[in-house]
Amino acid sequence: MSEIRIAIAGVGNCASSLVQGLSFYRQSGEAVGLMHPDLGGYSVGDIHLACAFDVDKRKIGQPVGQAIFTVPNNARVFFPQPEDDGALVHAGPLGDGVAAHLTAPDESQHVEVAEKSRQTDLADVVNILRRTGAQVLLNYLPVGSQQGSEVYAQACLEAHIAMVNCIPVFIASDAQWSRRFADAGLPIIGDDVKSQFGATIVHRLLMALAQQRGITIDSSYQLNVGGNNDFLNMLERGRLKNKKISKTEAVTSQIVGGMDEEHIHIGPSDYIRFLHDNKVCYVRMNARGFGGLPMELDLKLSVEDSPNSAGVVVDAIRCAALGLQHKCGGALTEVSAALMKHPPRQMSDPDAAAAMESWIVRHAPAPAS
Ligand SMILES: NC(=O)c1ccc[n+]([C@@H]2O[C@H](COP(=O)([O-])OP(=O)(O)OC[C@H]3O[C@@H](n4cnc5c(N)ncnc54)[C@H](O)[C@@H]3O)[C@@H](O)[C@H]2O)c1
Repeated sequence: MSEIRIAIAGVGNCASSLVQGLSFYRQSGEAVGLMHPDLGGYSVGDIHLACAFDVDKRKIGQPVGQAIFTVPNNARVFFPQPEDDGALVHAGPLGDGVAAHLTAPDESQHVEVAEKSRQTDLADVVNILRRTGAQVLLNYLPVGSQQGSEVYAQACLEAHIAMVNCIPVFIASDAQWSRRFADAGLPIIGDDVKSQFGATIVHRLLMALAQQRGITIDSSYQLNVGGNNDFLNMLERGRLKNKKISKTEAVTSQIVGGMDEEHIHIGPSDYIRFLHDNKVCYVRMNARGFGGLPMELDLKLSVEDSPNSAGVVVDAIRCAALGLQHKCGGALTEVSAALMKHPPRQMSDPDAAAAMESWIVRHAPAPAS
């Protein structure tokens, strides 16, 4: 199969893990940590960088493989010298991408906003996407970037490329945006990427399992802490509205009849600098079993946050490429249900995984006879 050329909006920690992973898998030929070593004829090593966009002046102008190691990024380094695909970080339009408290210079993980990003607009992004031959754009902007995400979504439509929306701004799950991608014959996968083995999927499966086993769930919470810029950004609670909806619906959608808001609490809870990219999640369930007798569950899950999303994004990129080949316009519903927290249509995880496998089989090239 030929290569897939990607563009990245937001060269933060998630981009760092993904870019390191592309070289790691290309050079090692390893299958460790992958859900699909081969997906529809594509390996992870077939994914190449076309270009990237950021607003931090320490990242702009650098090769992507170097910019990913620039502060304030603090994701774990597991492949220190990624291959150079010739892709550079360009200034992206600032929009609402950076929370005010993140620009304070006394904040050691602050963002240094480049003047150029205040003068860049949609047309510049479209030109760069076209010039560099990008086929799929990944949206990795900070939580709360509604306007910024819409600019990159529009740029995908104008440059005629696919989009993978990894953040909790509703594009794939918004009827109007999804219709615009459908009309353009372009695939979109979204919204808000599920981690490979993270808080959402573990919490969802535990709740579904309890219910399937006849247990009545009275209340549940999921508290998350971490020390990366994603958590620092989320200290501004005003940016969290869609994040909370996305994470809460991802779990309550698995309970037949839903759960009332008063008995479920899910969200990012605090920023703890020394944790760096380590995310710690605490899940609690209060429930009743046979005879109405009480039971409790407390679970702690500790993961490296950014590689945990990259493991899912490498599948989303390859499905987007298959969708492009087959001119699948609009939201890829089965793939989004399997890989995203807020897809256009929620499914149970086993059903979504099976639906995605069948979608891949239907869209993969026939094996050579
Ligand atoms: N497991 C995970 O890590 C996970 C899971 C689900 C969703 N997400 C989401 O993915 C997104 C990226 O996460 P991250 O950890 O890489 O965040 P990050 O804060 O490390 O990176 C965001 C990057 O975007 C840049 N940026 C800000 N405004 C911009 C603009 N207008 N144009 C271009 N770049 C801009 C910032 O300078 C920064 O480099 C977040 O919204 C996060 O919530 C992550």
